[in-house]
Amino acid sequence: MVLITQETPADTDAVAAVHAAAFPTDDEAILVDALRENDAFEPSLSLVAREDDDVVGHVLCTRITVEDAPSIPALTLAPVGVVPEEQGRGIGTSLVEAALDAAAEGGFDLVFLHGDPVFYSRFGFHPAGIRGFENPLETPPEVFMLATVGDDPETGGPLSYPEPFDHI
Ligand SMILES: CC(C)(COP(=O)(O)OP(=O)(O)OC[C@H]1O[C@@H](n2cnc3c(N)ncnc32)[C@H](O)[C@@H]1OP(=O)(O)O)[C@@H](O)C(=O)NCCC(=O)NCCS
Repeated sequence: MVLITQETPADTDAVAAVHAAAFPTDDEAILVDALRENDAFEPSLSLVAREDDDVVGHVLCTRITVEDAPSIPALTLAPVGVVPEEQGRGIGTSLVEAALDAAAEGGFDLVFLHGDPVFYSRFGFHPAGIRGFENPLETPPEVFMLATVGDDPETGGPLSYPEPFDHI
């Protein structure tokens, strides 16, 4: 059985190994390690999927700033990864759903991400550019997405991501 829980300090190496296995490069593993040391890190939004005491997946949401309305509680979800041998079993879906639930419980309103619209639209993500937000990363417009998990603030404009995102 797969359990989704907050990561613990003992999970750090296993989380890095998950992302190193899930993605083609170590960039996402390095990003997670850097974000963990950043002021924008939210421990309650770093979640692991555990099966038989092994960490088989991880998702992280980190605080970001809506520049024209800095009091709006907003996050970016990145990365999410599941070890290749366990993909396609619903673990990624459970991680994203748990992250959105935890974001709502934590009082956040907006969750941004940069990912495949086919995968993420099922969770309520929709294009953030059309909604009036400026993409802070050099990703294609169609992958820049937004889910509302609390109040829907009538604002848009530029976003400021924590410094480690400058290196991806
Ligand atoms: C994307 C990922 C987290 C999904 O986890 P998972 O446990 O395989 O997902 P689930 O079993 O819950 O759902 C499977 C669905 O995800 C889709 N999917 C799998 N990998 C995907 C990818 N890289 N991009 C988009 N969709 C993907 C499958 O097609 C499947 O869709 P379906 O339900 O319509 O058949 C996982 O495949 C992964 O770690 N991929 C490599 C890393 C990555 O690309 N992360 C996302 C970008 S941040």
